[in-house]
Amino acid sequence: MARMRDVWLALGLAHGSCALWTPNGSSNNVSAVAVSAVAPTGAGVPLPAFVSYSIEFSSFPDFAGNLSSPNTFSNNLLNNLGDLTGTKPFIRVGGNTQDYAVFNSSIAVAEIGIVNPAISPDYPTTLTIGPAYFESYQTWPNTKFIHGFNLGRNSTFAREGLIASVPYACKALQGGRLLHWELGNEPDLFKTSAQGIVRPSNWTEQSYVNEWLNWTRAIKAAMTGPCPDLASSQNYTYYAPSFAGTSNSLDPIRTWEDGLDTDKDIAVITTHNYISGATVPGVTLQGTLMNHTSNVVSIAKQLNESRLLRGLPANLGSNNLPFIMGETNSLYNQGRPGLSNTFGAALWGIDFNLWCATNNISRVHMHQGTNYRYQSWQPVDTNITSKGTKAPYYGNIAVASFLGNIVTSTPSIINLPLPNDEESAYAAYVNGSLARLIVVNMMSYNATDYNSNYTDNYPRPVQQYTFQLPPGNYGAVQLQRLMANGSDAITGITFDGYSFNYELDNGMPVLLGNVTRGETAGVGRNGQLSVDVPFSSAVIVRFAQQSGGNGWSGHGHGHGPWW
Ligand SMILES: *[C@@H]1O[C@H](CO)[C@@H](O)[C@H](O)[C@H]1NC(C)=O
Ligand SMILES: *[C@@H]1O[C@H](CO)[C@@H](O)[C@H](O)[C@H]1NC(C)=O
Ligand SMILES: *[C@@H]1O[C@H](CO)[C@@H](O)[C@H](O)[C@H]1NC(C)=O
Ligand SMILES: *[C@@H]1O[C@H](CO)[C@@H](O)[C@H](O)[C@H]1NC(C)=O
Ligand SMILES: *[C@@H]1O[C@H](CO)[C@@H](O)[C@H](O)[C@H]1NC(C)=O
Ligand SMILES: *[C@@H]1O[C@H](CO)[C@@H](O)[C@H](O)[C@H]1NC(C)=O
Ligand SMILES: *[C@@H]1O[C@H](CO)[C@@H](O)[C@H](O)[C@H]1NC(C)=O
Ligand SMILES: *[C@@H]1O[C@H](CO)[C@@H](O)[C@H](O)[C@H]1NC(C)=O
Ligand SMILES: *[C@@H]1O[C@H](CO)[C@@H](O)[C@H](O)[C@H]1NC(C)=O
Ligand SMILES: *[C@@H]1O[C@H](CO)[C@@H](O)[C@H](O)[C@H]1NC(C)=O
Ligand SMILES: *[C@@H]1O[C@H](CO)[C@@H](O)[C@H](O)[C@H]1NC(C)=O
Ligand SMILES: *[C@@H]1O[C@H](CO)[C@@H](O)[C@H](O)[C@H]1NC(C)=O
Repeated sequence: MARMRDVWLALGLAHGSCALWTPNGSSNNVSAVAVSAVAPTGAGVPLPAFVSYSIEFSSFPDFAGNLSSPNTFSNNLLNNLGDLTGTKPFIRVGGNTQDYAVFNSSIAVAEIGIVNPAISPDYPTTLTIGPAYFESYQTWPNTKFIHGFNLGRNSTFAREGLIASVPYACKALQGGRLLHWELGNEPDLFKTSAQGIVRPSNWTEQSYVNEWLNWTRAIKAAMTGPCPDLASSQNYTYYAPSFAGTSNSLDPIRTWEDGLDTDKDIAVITTHNYISGATVPGVTLQGTLMNHTSNVVSIAKQLNESRLLRGLPANLGSNNLPFIMGETNSLYNQGRPGLSNTFGAALWGIDFNLWCATNNISRVHMHQGTNYRYQSWQPVDTNITSKGTKAPYYGNIAVASFLGNIVTSTPSIINLPLPNDEESAYAAYVNGSLARLIVVNMMSYNATDYNSNYTDNYPRPVQQYTFQLPPGNYGAVQLQRLMANGSDAITGITFDGYSFNYELDNGMPVLLGNVTRGETAGVGRNGQLSVDVPFSSAVIVRFAQQSGGNGWSGHGHGHGPWW
């Protein structure tokens, strides 16, 4: 942490008259970026719980615990986000292991998993769950879930188990815990998956639709007795189709044309997205993750799918449904160490989420599982990873803080184009006026490289960003920084001076005394605001004229709520 001081020295320097230094020796401040007075039509409007999670089905008992041993650390981390956005994150319980999980009412433990390292070292590919599994849905107060039913396993035992699990699932989730159901994870890979092929090559979009309709009807019938409220047509709704991508072995558009929403029980269109893969050659932190263009390119195909689905005839059901990321993260196959678990990946996550928000991908479930490299937190100690808050969580916090309370002060989000791949900026408008800006600087600053690349004479580079604001009476604006020693840092991360680390207070916010906070900036008479942003960091700018939500007034030192 000693180097944190150097960051502030660097900031002091940037406020003075010295030219900025960057690793390639150029001085490259961004010239004034125009910010409009009102959000343009078409600005992104996030759904409640925009910042949400997807938890690997087999890892869910680790994340949530059970009634005799609830995981309070996870709950605290979820509360921190709920305090910011007005709703605790929605939790989708699913992933590859959702389609491996076979229900057996006679086992006494939550689950029995067998890991086959030849197929995947990260999760069990043979998995049996029992009634105790569903206790995990009852440990976190005020939390809503999407439970993922198994569609993949096709033995008679597995199919009978699906229906036998319904009363346990619906009883655990009734009374306000259920958001929606899901049936099947990434069925567009059922014919091709490297983890095991579960459908023959002649299985078409129409075959999938027929199965999906058949089993969602069977689940509903099995729910009517034990949970009549949830089985009502008003309440019986799905996230679907949960495809892995836009161009795998089932075409999403064709799937809707073939009648996926015949029963009009799909509430939300979900898609999955990964920027690249953990073992794909050429993947780097700077080039693949800390790169706004990389996010734009990756999400473009999803936006094309969303546009096509909106354009289908109304009777097919897709034209006016929200389109969300039901499972996503940086690099598929659970992420790569040194990339997906770093502060650079946290910065990537901010840009990825806000680019989605800008484009009306209106909720994002960041995926995680026990020991996964891209996880936001590790819920339990294992012999691979210690229990703790991981770097990506801090990116989730920054997104939540920037969006503010979506329930009471729904923001409209736009991107403010910047010249380089390695930087991005967004504006949030509330009640028709500019409320917040965020700048994400993704220019690599490798703290481990510090001694070889950066000397005391040339500290961590700082990039200055200038915004031409709409006319207004701004007064001082407040800055909140997301900071760490470098893009390669995996610990020592703070947001606005707060740590959420497990070791400090079980994931609850702890204001550190040794990190600078409470900075303000002034808007010039020419309406320009300049903000200095150290390489590999992010800053939120809050305008005092916007009260409400989690604005300026809530940010005393040690007074009131943490946010
Ligand atoms: C700042 O405080 C935190 C929490 O007490 C501690 O872990 C960290 O080492 C401190 N950093 C410095 C530079 O003293
Ligand atoms: C860049 O911004 C700094 C202030 O942070 C200023 O001192 C410097 O002159 C600027 N450089 C250029 C080339 O505009
Ligand atoms: C130097 O680096 C900056 C920031 O990454 C970049 O925008 C600029 O194009 C680079 N200049 C040269 C000459 O490479
Ligand atoms: C509940 O969790 C505890 C701690 O992980 C475990 O020992 C216990 O077996 C669990 N109970 C059930 C019914 O799975
Ligand atoms: C059932 O699953 C097996 C693999 O588990 C697969 O080979 C077979 O094609 C599937 N059968 C049908 C009818 O989908
Ligand atoms: C796929 O082919 C098998 C024979 O290989 C046949 O039994 C099955 O009905 C076919 N399924 C579809 C959906 O056409
Ligand atoms: C349809 O669901 C019923 C259970 O309600 C099951 O017995 C049948 O095998 C299913 N048919 C297909 C084609 O999946
Ligand atoms: C839907 O669920 C809510 C909450 O459980 C319940 O109050 C309502 O009665 C249900 N609707 C129907 C039609 O059963
Ligand atoms: C950023 O990603 C784009 C799209 O993949 C790529 O063309 C570009 O070279 C990347 N930029 C850097 C600095 O690696
Ligand atoms: C690590 O833990 C797993 C599961 O608890 C166990 O199967 C494995 O043998 C352990 N590995 C070592 C090296 O202790
Ligand atoms: C940071 O620098 C160290 C030392 O040069 C290197 O081993 C490491 O791979 C770098 N990390 C990243 C994320 O670039
Ligand atoms: C640091 O310097 C080494 C050797 O000149 C270079 O390979 C590396 O890319 C530099 N790292 C950064 C982050 O600029």
